[in-house]
Amino acid sequence: MRIKGECSRSGLRARSANITACKGFTTLAAPRAGSGHPRMKTALITGITGQDGSHLAEFLLEKGYRVVGMARRASVDHNERIAHLLDRIEVRQGDLLDQGSLVTILEDVAPDELYNLGAMSFVPTSWAQPVLTGEFTGIGVTRILEAVRAVKPDVRFYQASSSEMFGKVQESPQSEKTPFWPRSPYGVAKVYGHWITVNYRESYGIHASSGILFNHEGPRRGLEFVTRKISSAAARIKLGLQEKVSLGNLDARRDWGYAGDYVRAMWLMLQQDEPGDYVIATGEAHTVRDFCQIAFEHVGLNFEDHVVLDPTLLRPAEVDTLLGDATRARNVLGWQPEVSFGDLARLMVDADVALQRRLVGRGGDA
Ligand code: NAP
Ligand code: GDD
Repeated sequence: MRIKGECSRSGLRARSANITACKGFTTLAAPRAGSGHPRMKTALITGITGQDGSHLAEFLLEKGYRVVGMARRASVDHNERIAHLLDRIEVRQGDLLDQGSLVTILEDVAPDELYNLGAMSFVPTSWAQPVLTGEFTGIGVTRILEAVRAVKPDVRFYQASSSEMFGKVQESPQSEKTPFWPRSPYGVAKVYGHWITVNYRESYGIHASSGILFNHEGPRRGLEFVTRKISSAAARIKLGLQEKVSLGNLDARRDWGYAGDYVRAMWLMLQQDEPGDYVIATGEAHTVRDFCQIAFEHVGLNFEDHVVLDPTLLRPAEVDTLLGDATRARNVLGWQPEVSFGDLARLMVDADVALQRRLVGRGGDA
């Protein structure tokens, strides 16, 4: 519950009075031991403004957590995905490029669980900005782990690793034992982030887990990722707002799941007595063409009439195919996905049709 109030850096002092103060509002703190209530856990999420951050925040609120998100300052509002949660979460300014901000946030928030989801996550941009990608997505993990080591070494830490690390796959399906062969500066940075997480676990005994998540999507996915680009185009074409959509490699195969299912796996990893690494995937691969076919068919269209191939969208080095083996997650975490590939494509199209109708209704350029 949030109450408007003075902004203060004295979060720790304020908490002792059972009130935390930060960023223009105060939050009633967790009931303390002895108060007759179980202690409310605190989770800190970097990347809370992203697709996964918003799903994870919702999930943890449902579980009764105090949820604090770290977000970078921007000149325009980028809270679209968490707008509906802003009266139930705290948002703190910080940046994975800024060590001091990470230390301060950890000191003030004192989380029980820390989910490091912040990253430059769009693969093509990693060729355009390889050094920055390395800083955010790779070294950023070391920065936050160093802050953990200095301030809160008993926190349970989750690192958002990626199936992009498998890249040019060395075996199929890919499991926790499959060697990495990343094919983009993003994939290379994620391999670094993965191994530094393992290293801090082994060097300092930190409860640090790495989730090797395969592609996961949903209506909150950024518009530049292929599934959302297709679902949005199918909706707009259906409503007469657009005629064509340009795509690159239609033969690329991915193991696509639903983001809401995947954040549950993140949480499960941090509930284990022992930290570890887990592949999270559906075990089914489909092509970009398959996604087009289902998405357009759902609104009564033939994708071949609307998809234009654009060679400039091909990547310098492609990840042709990914297929995950999530046996370990199933056996140890009891995790399995609930949304099928076809349902995922259809629910994304439905959400985009509804969104475009709302935008048209408001008189905006849908
Ligand atoms: P996303 O929608 O692109 O969100 C990325 C988040 O990181 C945003 O909140 C972004 O903030 C934040 N961020 C970027 N640079 C930052 C910095 N320097 N300091 C602090 N925060 C920063 O990505 P997502 O799909 O939710 O993915 C979450 C994480 O899982 C990422 O690490 C991604 O690489 C990884 N992952 C994703 C998938 C997938 O299929 N979705 C699969 C495997 C792994 P702004 O709003 O300010 O940009
Ligand atoms: N984005 C995009 N746009 N991709 C296209 C297009 C297009 O117009 N046409 C074809 N593709 C192909 C890409 O070449 C790629 O093989 C596939 O569609 C998926 O592309 P993205 O949706 O951009 O996702 P990604 O697989 O590169 O990366 C995502 O998944 C990773 C996990 O494997 C991101 O979420 C990463 O952050 C994540 O780590």
